[in-house]
Amino acid sequence: MRGSPPASLLAAKRAPSVDLRRMRAVGYTRAPREDRAQQVPAAVAEKLGVILPSAGLDVQRAAITDACRQRGWELGDVFDDALGPDAGGRPNGYAQAMHELEQGRADVLIAAKLDTVCPWSELPDLLDRAERQGWGLLALDLTLDTLTADGRAALRSLGAQARALPPSALPMPPAELMFRVVGSDSPGRFEVGGRLELEQLDRLLRAHGRGLADYGDILDFGCGPGRFLRQLRTMAPQARLCGVDQDEEAIAWVRRELPFADTAVAGPLPPLALPAGSFDLIIVFSVFTHLDEEYQDAWLAELRRLTRPGGTVVATVHGMFKWEVIRNGPMAGEPDLERMATRLARRGFLHWRGDDWGTFFPDYYHTSFHRRDYIREHWARWFDVVDVVEQQPNQPGHHALLSGHDIVLLNARDQERGRAALAARRARLRLPALARQIRERLASRRR
Ligand SMILES: C[S@@+](CC[C@H](N)C(=O)[O-])C[C@H]1O[C@@H](n2cnc3c(N)ncnc32)[C@H](O)[C@@H]1O
Repeated sequence: MRGSPPASLLAAKRAPSVDLRRMRAVGYTRAPREDRAQQVPAAVAEKLGVILPSAGLDVQRAAITDACRQRGWELGDVFDDALGPDAGGRPNGYAQAMHELEQGRADVLIAAKLDTVCPWSELPDLLDRAERQGWGLLALDLTLDTLTADGRAALRSLGAQARALPPSALPMPPAELMFRVVGSDSPGRFEVGGRLELEQLDRLLRAHGRGLADYGDILDFGCGPGRFLRQLRTMAPQARLCGVDQDEEAIAWVRRELPFADTAVAGPLPPLALPAGSFDLIIVFSVFTHLDEEYQDAWLAELRRLTRPGGTVVATVHGMFKWEVIRNGPMAGEPDLERMATRLARRGFLHWRGDDWGTFFPDYYHTSFHRRDYIREHWARWFDVVDVVEQQPNQPGHHALLSGHDIVLLNARDQERGRAALAARRARLRLPALARQIRERLASRRR
């Protein structure tokens, strides 16, 4: 979202009169609903570079001001809805912001959180309106650059998918349990975001032959409070579902509220008390994003043990897209940043302990980054690396995840067949050597 102002945003209608170097923004903030009492310490959220939906108007306003300053934009009014959009029967903040945009007095509507502006399902309508009137929408909590045509198309498509979703009848976890897994205490991010991300994984799996609906035994490793388990119930109704996490509180919640899934509490390191080959699909969403190499290797070996020959593991990691986001965000003040960047470029792997995840998780749990070549080489010790999908989140149709993670698809090679193939290859390699020995012996006899 950095760099030159997006020309694509400026509809022909107003393009000639707008100074491209100086976009004019209006801000919009909305007070959190009363039931969203702040449960996550604001200082921790700030250190993690997260703006919470439970954040008050002042925090949202500061983020908006800061974003405009960084971009060199002119910030006009920031309109507040302290009591919710329709309170009081007078023109409210939202209507006022819309009026400014409609009148051409601003080019961009900027908000700290997307869900202060509108629910996901209403996004296509809002984007239509913006396009008709020639202004852009910027929500600071999105990885998408919605000021480009591609970014807007990607957001529109997510909004359309959200609109088509059936409402969930399942209970929502407490705000802090949601925050631990998605860095947001927004029910929309947890429920709709979880569904959209799982649909992306499903699309990728299907592109490689078998979708979620084709697996019999699915493990969600690092399931937290069941963000995916609740969706798998309908997306993979045929499967036996199992969720494992080291977070005892999250597992207790899943056990109570999502009893259709089996559960187990994991230790920091393997093994799990589960028989070898228990699963034909293992989902590992945003777990390797937090482990150092020792823990990563130990869990890769354990996941290999638990996957049936021919089975699949789909995992996510922080690739180069997320590296850029985090290094320019929460990591920006890190004195050692350059050295870390070099290390990541050379080794292909980096574990950064300077975040604040230790507030909620054990000491080993921090932030890791992976390069594609590292995964292809290092993870091949345990699995066939079938695909590593790097994020290009502004590309519609690409397997973009809201989280901005790269997706890794692994296949548990059949070890028996693998051994037979290796033996055959060795034999093939040995044959020419044998032939050479025979030729040499014959030649020496002739002499
Ligand atoms: C970022 S959260 C993602 C949760 C979930 N996969 C999702 O996407 O909603 C990472 C999860 O990994 C879990 N985790 C970390 N270390 C673990 C371990 N050794 N065994 C099992 N789960 C672990 C954490 O407790 C946390 O719930």
